[in-house]
Amino acid sequence: MTPEAAAALARMDRHLQDTTPATPCVVIDLATVRARFAALQALLPDARILYAVKANPAAPVIAALAALACAFDLASAGEIDRCVGLGIGADRVCFGNTIKRESDIARAHALGIDLFAFDSAGELDKLARAAPGARVFCRISVHGRGAEWPLTRKFGCAPRMATELLVLARARGLRPVGLSFHVGSQQVDPNQWAIAIGTAAEVFRACRRGGVALELLNIGGGLPAQYRTPVPPLTVYTATILAALHRHFGGSQPALMVEPGRYMVGDAGMLRSQVLLIARHGNHDDRRWVYLDAGRYNGLAETQGESIRYRLRTPHDGTAAEPVILAGPTCDSTDIIYDRAGYTLPLALAIGDSVDFLSAGAYTASYASVEFNGFPPLATYCL
Ligand SMILES: Cc1ncc(COP(=O)(O)O)c(C=O)c1O
Repeated sequence: MTPEAAAALARMDRHLQDTTPATPCVVIDLATVRARFAALQALLPDARILYAVKANPAAPVIAALAALACAFDLASAGEIDRCVGLGIGADRVCFGNTIKRESDIARAHALGIDLFAFDSAGELDKLARAAPGARVFCRISVHGRGAEWPLTRKFGCAPRMATELLVLARARGLRPVGLSFHVGSQQVDPNQWAIAIGTAAEVFRACRRGGVALELLNIGGGLPAQYRTPVPPLTVYTATILAALHRHFGGSQPALMVEPGRYMVGDAGMLRSQVLLIARHGNHDDRRWVYLDAGRYNGLAETQGESIRYRLRTPHDGTAAEPVILAGPTCDSTDIIYDRAGYTLPLALAIGDSVDFLSAGAYTASYASVEFNGFPPLATYCL
């Protein structure tokens, strides 16, 4: 753990000790969020950074970033309302979801929002009707290999179709300005950006041949948080991105946009849970079931498929440990957190002890259910 990460954890621990909030809950260290923004901006000085609000929409997180030069990638009318309510100007936001309600597009346009994503002819039709003259960019599909939380298939059109759609956009009275891609969330292979930038450069050239000069490249999210498996340092990602831009675009670099969500808030937070029950279901069971008050439906949605593997912390770390099956509190047998991922927990762990999920600031509170089994939404406390 870096000294900065250790200091942030100490601040969050102190807060939990002083306030003893009900569990489960998420604690966010805003100083870490600010430092993340500054670090990325220093390494990509020419890029416009848009925080992907979906990762953690807590108002203090948005406000902390709004106080810096950060812009915002928004997915819905709800996120637009929250940002507008915090006084963020329309020129600092992008409506980046490729699946929008037409009336929401119209409202965004009326508010002055002028940058929209699309990846299909149907969405282009809606944009042409509801946001005439707006700046639009087309999301191209990339395969997402190497991502622990891939965003493949559902989003992005084939690069060749992107060229056709961008030409069509102009014919419909929109302003086709560029391309976007997302290499998959928690992407542990920086080279995926290099591959996608190469593909994007080909579409830029094809568009130019079709009479459309693109000027914007949105390289999406995907930058990782630190879960159980080590990830390359941020400098390796940014160096790979800059080298690929140089290689594929040479002297005519597009304006660059980057939309980090997980990177910005993941390591800035932790989720505190409590042990509700420890059980064996047969006298010869080789593993204990450890049931927590947090599970798949109240904060740990990304443990689906055991994809995101958080680092865990208990008050007994360093003592003898044994393999466990970790599960949540709801009456649903899909509410199992980790079974196959090889987690062990101390034998001394007891009912009432805390189990902390580290680097859990992203996609936890925002993914939690509202009332499944009567459990309340996951509370977030920002320092
Ligand atoms: C359009 C868009 N941009 C950015 C992000 C943020 O991705 P990440 O959290 O991997 O940085 C997402 C995540 O779903 C997204 O859909």
